[in-house]
Amino acid sequence: MLFDIFTVLPEVLFPYLQASILQRAHEAGLVEYQIHNIRDWATDKHHTTDDEPYGGGGGMVMKVEPIFAAVEDVLGKPPACPVILMTPQGRVFNQQIARELAEQPRIAFLAGRYEGLDERVRRHLVTDEISIGDYVLTGGELPALVLIDAITRLLPGALGDAEAPMKDSHAESLLEYPHYTRPANFRGWEVPEILRSGNHALVERWRREQSLLRTRERRPDLFEKAELTKKDREFLAKIEANQQEAESE
Ligand code: ADE
Repeated sequence: MLFDIFTVLPEVLFPYLQASILQRAHEAGLVEYQIHNIRDWATDKHHTTDDEPYGGGGGMVMKVEPIFAAVEDVLGKPPACPVILMTPQGRVFNQQIARELAEQPRIAFLAGRYEGLDERVRRHLVTDEISIGDYVLTGGELPALVLIDAITRLLPGALGDAEAPMKDSHAESLLEYPHYTRPANFRGWEVPEILRSGNHALVERWRREQSLLRTRERRPDLFEKAELTKKDREFLAKIEANQQEAESE
């Protein structure tokens, strides 16, 4: 997988890409990062990448020419891979989109800065627009890193345990179960007995049930989409019956 990132702030990207799992994925040859400074394609003396908006008003707008020049120079004309603009106006990112993007051999990200970028980039260059949530950041660099992180960890071999991405939160529309490690007792707060029982089947069942309860309580929207087994339904029915009994007492 090759990631191309077009930005005017390349320095903020390196530290995150050069740590932990992303770095290991790079060293293992699973991913390659190419960071392109849009400023290098600005042709004027000062390497200007922004200008005042037509029609007035505050703020600056990223210029169209350096962005087209950078992207077409690196990716061809028209670009030979998806070009994703990171913007709060895009479709909202989720695990399903991460899975789809993980199938691509190459993805380019355009990280905007300033108040915005010339509309012609949006209309005639980018192939997709993605938001990481309904809030506004100062630029698209962090959002691009968010996507790169979510996609990279899905690549076979990126995580130690080959099954880990499958067990994750959201992988099957359920949130993860609670995790514990030593000590068994911290300030009187005990690790659930079942996790220390050594009974693998019971532990698996407990984890599944905790995932169900947690998702139903915190993310009813995800819970609705979850595929429940017969055992799951029996468990939930039992919980409901217990609750009703407690309420009637
Ligand atoms: N740029 C600024 N805010 C953003 C967001 N929420 N998602 C993607 N790109 C952005």
